[in-house]
Amino acid sequence: MRIKVGASLDCADYGNLQSEVEKLERGGADLLHCDVMDGHFVPNFAIGTRLIRTLREKTRLIFDIHLAIEEPEHHIERFLEAGGDIITVHVEACHRLHQIVRHIRKCGGKACVAYAPSTPVSGIEYILPEIDMVLLMTVDPGFPGQRFVPGVIHKVEHVRRMIEHEGLDVDIEVDGGINEETIPLLYKAGANVFVAGTSSVFNGREDTETGMRKFKAFCEGLEKCRNL
Ligand code: DX5
Ligand code: ZN
Repeated sequence: MRIKVGASLDCADYGNLQSEVEKLERGGADLLHCDVMDGHFVPNFAIGTRLIRTLREKTRLIFDIHLAIEEPEHHIERFLEAGGDIITVHVEACHRLHQIVRHIRKCGGKACVAYAPSTPVSGIEYILPEIDMVLLMTVDPGFPGQRFVPGVIHKVEHVRRMIEHEGLDVDIEVDGGINEETIPLLYKAGANVFVAGTSSVFNGREDTETGMRKFKAFCEGLEKCRNL
């Protein structure tokens, strides 16, 4: 279960996005987490295809597109074509989930399904064999800077157990309130993809590159302890 670190683009300095992305890459980030918001699924707006396409040309980071939108099935090709590598759809927004994740893979993307903190993961076993990653939101999607929901730790344990039981290779990503306090608990429970936001790399205390470097070193330290 290799750890991967990501950073939420929506939490970066909007006045200097290209430089922020370059700093994240130099700091060792694996993923650029892009929160796409439509004002319906969540009461906020963020990140469109033009911005993704523009930044895609400047970096080799993996583009992790989190579609916090209604009817995501209408937009999958557009986000893949703009440069998305991983496409995440919310289970709460999909009536035909198998069709949608199969479509993402058929178009060449990696498929991820997201669950808000209050959404039960019962039934997830039916979709696990068809996806590359599960996103267990640790805050309600929509806004940076919210309080971490500790109950999600049990969901992480439950989903990791199911993945292992089925012998699958599926990542578990966590997003919201991810920092040095919450990462050890989530890692122990079975999460391996950590999205940094305002509670860590973008807390305004240090430069983005330094923050990312520390965040990555912290995660790698945990990984080494486990492998000892
Ligand atoms: C949720 C946010 C996330 C995340 C940011 O939709 O946009 O990307 O919560 O991290 P924090 O919680 O640290 O600000
Ligand atoms: Zn997100």
